[in-house]
Amino acid sequence: MLKYDFSFAFKETLESGLSFDELLEMGKNTSTILERINSPEPGFLRILSNDSILDEVKTLEDWLENFENFVVIGIGGSALGNQALHSSLNPLNWNNLSREKRMKKARIFVLDNVDPDMVSSILGELDLKTTVFNVISKSGMTAECMSNYLIARGLLDKLGLPASEHFIFTTDSEKGVLREIADREKIRTLTIPDDVGGRFSVLTPVGLLSALAEGIDIYGLYEGARFGRERYLRDNVKSNPALVNALIHYAYMKKGYNISVMMPYSNRLYTLADWYRQLWAESLGKKFDLNGRIVHTGQTPIKALGAIDQHSQVQLYNEGPKDKVITFIKLEDFGNQLTVPFIHSDVEALSYLNGVELAELLNAELRGTSIALASNGIPNLTITFPQIDAFHVGEFIVSYEIQTAIAGTLLRINPYDQPGVELGKKLTYAFMGRRGYEEIRDRYEEKTSW
Ligand code: PA5
Repeated sequence: MLKYDFSFAFKETLESGLSFDELLEMGKNTSTILERINSPEPGFLRILSNDSILDEVKTLEDWLENFENFVVIGIGGSALGNQALHSSLNPLNWNNLSREKRMKKARIFVLDNVDPDMVSSILGELDLKTTVFNVISKSGMTAECMSNYLIARGLLDKLGLPASEHFIFTTDSEKGVLREIADREKIRTLTIPDDVGGRFSVLTPVGLLSALAEGIDIYGLYEGARFGRERYLRDNVKSNPALVNALIHYAYMKKGYNISVMMPYSNRLYTLADWYRQLWAESLGKKFDLNGRIVHTGQTPIKALGAIDQHSQVQLYNEGPKDKVITFIKLEDFGNQLTVPFIHSDVEALSYLNGVELAELLNAELRGTSIALASNGIPNLTITFPQIDAFHVGEFIVSYEIQTAIAGTLLRINPYDQPGVELGKKLTYAFMGRRGYEEIRDRYEEKTSW
């Protein structure tokens, strides 16, 4: 199970920190908070109550084995979770391993942006005869996803490869153009449950199919997630670290700490910070509260990577504005062991490194940075993965989904919508000449000198 060390967020060890009493005071209505986030039970927890999604995805395993490459086409909540599972749960060089070393599982690529350099570089290197594309869009009409689908489709059509064999669509049960095309052309589909929003959907077919294609233990993900659901819904501040973490972030937010940095000291865990960034930003960054009052609330999530960003960001974290809460992600067992050899043992500036494990060095750097921040009065906390496996990643995902829901309740906002991105989406359609968006284009075109 994940371990949490909150000591550098509290007065006992951080002079300017919170007192535990303050936290208890804020958390005294925890049963109401937890009741509120769980009634009705949110979709991201409901899906864990049985294996139906896992079993449905699993039926596609044999079909997936026909393919060397699995390409995710999607963006935001329809891509970030896939990337996080991919880089945390398989070796970083997975796509470069031979098919035998990959145990005949697929290489994974993600087409999220519509950057022609990025899209060409991925599609240009793939043998499309052995490639399957999972087009993921809950709304079934997001511009980036649809254009990348059309590009991939154009290439397959040119080669005479059947869409029904090389595509699968993961989308809403009824709405959207993907559903229509799938019905017409007998393309396989998987359904994103109605009550699960994009950024909460990694444990639905959205994240699970690409995970299965690359041999990740999807049942293990659910095992960890179910453990997390039990652990992080406990109505007791002392035994529910997700509740404590949400309360810490909320309390600091109230004191003007408007930035939340997530800093894994593990390259494999780095993309979890990317996934977290979307979850925390889109869910909590809101103009209106539940009563329609203007509140402009939220906390800006930032990702950083230890030890690299010690040489880039940590000066600012230590001595810049006191507006950040830092979350370190520590890994105990890296799987790979690498020992610094005994070379230049006579050079004092190097000899202390002789015989040292790189993991030990990295974790000493984490500890040093955490203590240095605390001594500068900067609140920070550490979440420890004993090792990286499906169980702990599943637990981490649910922990942050629950924390986000708790923070949303404390802030009295709706964490499940994203009205602030709608206007930008509509204007993109308008500027690209989509029918039905003429009025909005005319209204805003006058202002395009902006
Ligand atoms: O969390 C969300 O709802 C969004 O970030 C969406 O995931 C993103 O906009 C992509 O939307 P869709 O899946 O409808 O293409």
